[in-house]
Amino acid sequence: MQVWARLICLQPVMRAIEQHVPHSTERLIDLGSGYGLVSALTALRRDCIVIGIEASPPRLAIARHATTGHILNVSFQQGDIAQISLPSSDVVLLVDVLCLFTGDAQAHVLENCADSLCSGGALLIKDNTTTPRWKYKYTHLEERVKLWMGTYGVRAQAQPNYRTPDAWRQLITNANLSIEEERFIRSIAPYPGVIYLCRK
Ligand SMILES: C[S@@+](CC[C@H](N)C(=O)[O-])C[C@H]1O[C@@H](n2cnc3c(N)ncnc32)[C@H](O)[C@@H]1O
Repeated sequence: MQVWARLICLQPVMRAIEQHVPHSTERLIDLGSGYGLVSALTALRRDCIVIGIEASPPRLAIARHATTGHILNVSFQQGDIAQISLPSSDVVLLVDVLCLFTGDAQAHVLENCADSLCSGGALLIKDNTTTPRWKYKYTHLEERVKLWMGTYGVRAQAQPNYRTPDAWRQLITNANLSIEEERFIRSIAPYPGVIYLCRK
């Protein structure tokens, strides 16, 4: 059920990947890859090497179990994306991950992403923002409950760090990345999602 629900929520992300990740991509890194859904779906649609990096061992085990021997161009590594140096790549994905970090750590992760991207490479960020207000309040509460329950199996702060659109833009541009597109996800789902396509 959880995976099916996640698959529905991920549709706008998969459309953005379809649109913005070129077929010529050689290597794509999915940071905080969770159960590996985005990594696996992307690997099925592109010939490139896809590497998911995830901190939670149980999530990593499920991602590996679901893909090993079936999808040959995807692999998963354990790592804390705030600590490790990232392999170089053409595309980096950060899907619903940045909000789990403090402001300083968010800035550090983005600087790491910018360093790992080859010239002209793309960073695709999907996260939540603070408008519309009712969606923000609902999502904030849901995420707080998940964090309190230890859903992600990694040490994280007690509250999600969702930013206003202005604050997201500032964070991204401070990491020397330019924003090529900002797309607010308009759907009946109660999540105030926003997608940024950024370039080095
Ligand atoms: C909301 S889930 C999103 C998973 C996946 N990106 C997706 O869209 O299905 C956030 C993921 O980030 C992972 N995560 C949190 N902190 C991390 C860290 N410091 N390093 C690597 N992964 C981390 C969590 O374990 C969790 O799987």
